[in-house]
Amino acid sequence: MGDQKKLYIKTYGCQMNVYDSERMAEAMGGSGYVETDSPDDADMILLNTCHIREKAAEKVYSELGRFKGLKAEKPDLKIGVAGCVAQAEGEEIMRRQPLVDLVVGPQAYHRLPEMEAKARAGEKALDTDFPEEDKFERLKSRPKAKRGPTAFLTVQEGCDKFCAFCVVPYTRGAEVSRPVDRILTEARDLVERGVREITLLGQNVNAYHGAGPDGDWSLAQLIWGLNEIDGLARIRFTTSHPNDMTDDLIAAHGECEKLMPYLHLPVQSGSDRILKRMNRSHDRDSYLRLIERIRAARPDILISGDFIVGFPEETDQDFEDTMALIEEVKYGQAFSFKYSTRPGTPAAERAQVDDVVATERLYRLQALITKQQREIKDSMVGRNVGVLFEKPGRLDGQLVGKSDHLHAVHVEARGAAVGEIAEVRIVESGPNSLRGEIVTD
Ligand code: 5AD
Ligand code: SF4
Repeated sequence: MGDQKKLYIKTYGCQMNVYDSERMAEAMGGSGYVETDSPDDADMILLNTCHIREKAAEKVYSELGRFKGLKAEKPDLKIGVAGCVAQAEGEEIMRRQPLVDLVVGPQAYHRLPEMEAKARAGEKALDTDFPEEDKFERLKSRPKAKRGPTAFLTVQEGCDKFCAFCVVPYTRGAEVSRPVDRILTEARDLVERGVREITLLGQNVNAYHGAGPDGDWSLAQLIWGLNEIDGLARIRFTTSHPNDMTDDLIAAHGECEKLMPYLHLPVQSGSDRILKRMNRSHDRDSYLRLIERIRAARPDILISGDFIVGFPEETDQDFEDTMALIEEVKYGQAFSFKYSTRPGTPAAERAQVDDVVATERLYRLQALITKQQREIKDSMVGRNVGVLFEKPGRLDGQLVGKSDHLHAVHVEARGAAVGEIAEVRIVESGPNSLRGEIVTD
């Protein structure tokens, strides 16, 4: 296989980027590339970037700088930037870092093989279009390679919500849903290749409204459709917006056996004043009532959230409102960030909160979330949960997997294998994971 070239992809940011990187690797397979996990022996390096916060883009530039030596040694090495930084500042990247041969935005990945050929011919290639054609169809994988037990599947992309802090509507574009039959076909294909758990992805996944056999399907209908696939054992989805939590989706959490008891439902702030300024179009009370309804449908559901502290004009009282909301909801998992100015978004123009104040708020918020997370994790001890084994553990004879509630669980394998789901009794709660024993009777 002497003519095989090597592709190194480094993925930043969200799970959709992970999915996109897999699709790009498959597409480049058609141009004779196989993936490598080291940049040193690569013929092409792709950075799949994230633009959600400032540091993410800065990391990309510093990473690019580090490839200078490699490129000097290997003039044929091609370097590409993909993802949301590519979309937001494609030309700027080309100007600022002459090492870069190609820049491809998230909606143009299917054109990557042509762009690589252009770069090989010595030209720079830049494509940040939002083309009409269906990139997912064009990115279809050729070989039926075996896969691990879990996979992501993008069902919806883009966002029309325009939260005042967020670049997603600009980098990923308007909200688009993939048609039902393509998603079901891709899911069946994944299952044939060994996948037992699928996480449906979308920036606004619960706004899904893809063309189905009898009109548009909601996300709940899609989940029920996936529930029919033999061999598929678990369904998850992320990320949801509170305003798109429809009745059928809430009901599915109580009724659909393959839908896991975990919901990522960002609130961002607990202050009505800030939520308004964020253009979130829900308030504190509507969010809390929503959580109540979801818990009524599925009492053991684990709620996960996203929070921004130090949003422009956030006062101490606004922040205390967020802390009080967290106390009320009790989160099993959360991602929290200091507000980061994104040029071009409405909040960028507003009075910024002092950085020291914002940092202090972030620490306090994270301490509270960590405490809640630990309490919920500890409460699993003594319970039986389903665990899907994903890989061998560090110790001999051990397997690691995820529980229904997405906790990492270590068990003594006792004949069980990766890809299997077992009923596990949780016996211990450690700092980062749970330990359990396979229930045999
Ligand atoms: N600053 C800080 N956090 C942000 N997020 C999105 N934009 C910003 C920003 N400008 C956070 C939100 C979102 C998560 C993916 O990233 O909490 O839900
Ligand atoms: Fe960004 Fe999410 Fe708001 Fe859309 S709903 S603008 S993706 S934070």
